[in-house]
Amino acid sequence: MWQIPFNRPVITDTQTEYLKESFQSGKHCGGGPFTLQCEEWIEQHTLTTKALLTPSGTHALEFAALLQNINTGDEVILPSYTFTSTANAFAIRGASLVFVDIRPDTMNIDEKLIEPAITDRTKAIVPVHYGGVSCEMDEICMVARKYQIEVIEDAAQGVMASYKGRALGSIGDFGCFSFHETKNYSMGEGGALLINHKTDVENALIVREKGTNRSQFMRGQVDKYTWQSVGSSFLASDISAALLSSQLKYAEQINYARLKHWSTYNELLEPLRIRGCIELPTVPEGCKHNAHMFYIKVKDIEERTTLMSFLKHHGVVAAFHYVPLHSSSAGRKYGVFHGRDIYTTKESERLLRLPMFYDLKEGEIEYVCRLINDFYLG
Ligand SMILES: Cc1ncc(COP(=O)(O)O)c(C=O)c1O
Repeated sequence: MWQIPFNRPVITDTQTEYLKESFQSGKHCGGGPFTLQCEEWIEQHTLTTKALLTPSGTHALEFAALLQNINTGDEVILPSYTFTSTANAFAIRGASLVFVDIRPDTMNIDEKLIEPAITDRTKAIVPVHYGGVSCEMDEICMVARKYQIEVIEDAAQGVMASYKGRALGSIGDFGCFSFHETKNYSMGEGGALLINHKTDVENALIVREKGTNRSQFMRGQVDKYTWQSVGSSFLASDISAALLSSQLKYAEQINYARLKHWSTYNELLEPLRIRGCIELPTVPEGCKHNAHMFYIKVKDIEERTTLMSFLKHHGVVAAFHYVPLHSSSAGRKYGVFHGRDIYTTKESERLLRLPMFYDLKEGEIEYVCRLINDFYLG
C-alpha cells in the first residue's frame, strides 16, 4: 500500500551549500546577504516597490496593520473563511472585524458584498487569495479607492500567482506572503511584506527595526540610531533566508511541477465531476494560479469525514481547514458577520484538500484518484 503524506517540504540540491555558506558568513541576523537576495527576487518577480522578509506570514500581516495605523474603533473587512492570522493581525490592534461571505466557485471573498459592509469606520479590506487563485482585485480596488480605504492582500498562498498579469501581493497597498513549510516555497517559518507605495518604505524600515532608524545608520546616513516610533522586530534570520534562497532559485521548476500535479488531478477526477459526485476547483479568467493546493468538494461534511477515513485507511492523508472564524469564540468576540452566511459554512464543510507537494509522483496522484473513484463507484 502507498503511504502518501499531505505535504513534504521541498529539498533542493543547493540548500546544504547555502546553509553552510550562511553559517560560515558569521552574519546570521536579519538583513544579511541571503535576506537581500530573497528580497530582490521578490521585487523583481512581483514588481513591488519594496519587499521585506519577515519571521512569518503572520508577522507580515501584523506589520501591515501597524504601518496602516489600525486602531481601536477601526473596522476591517475580510472573509471568515481564512486562517486566524488574517484576523489576529487586526484584532490585536483593537479593530473590529467585519466578515463577509465568500464566492462558492473560488472560496474567495465575494467582491460584490464588500461595498454594503463599508461604514465610516472602515479602514481596510483584506482579500485572501485562497489557494493562490486571485480575488476579483479590479472590483475590490475600485471600491477601496471610492471610499479611500486601504487594501492589504493576504497573499500567504499566492507566491508566483497573478491577476491580469499582476503578481498577487503587488496589487493592493500592501501584500503579505508566507514562506511557511506548508507553502510552495519555504524557509521553515517565514514570510514577506510587499510595500507597494514608495511613501511607506522609510516608515516600514523604522517599524521593522524596533522603531529605530537603524537602517539609515547602516546606510551611513546618520551617525547613531535612536528610537523614532513604535515598532517591532519584523526581521527574519539570514539562516532561514538561505534556505528560502535555495528554493527561489528553482521557483520556475517548482511552480511547473506543482501545476503539472494540479492538472493531473483535475484530468483524472473530471469523470467523477461529470457524474455529479464531486466538484473541482475553478480558476477564473485572468487568474494564473500557482497550484498551492488541489481540493475537491463533496456532498456534505458527513461524506467528507467518510472519504477522509477511507483515504487514511489506504495510506493517503487528506485534510480540510478553516473552520469559519465567525463561528469560533474569538471570532464572535472580535467580529461580526455582515449579511448572510450563504456559502462560508456550507462550502467550507464540503472541501477536502488532497496531497500536494513538489516531488509528488504521478503514480501517487493516480493512486489517490483511483481511491476516490473506488469510494464513489465501488
Ligand atoms: C491565508 C493565510 N494567511 C496567513 C497565514 C499565516 O502565515 P504563516 O504561517 O507564515 O504565519 C497563512 C498560513 O497558513 C494562510 O494560509
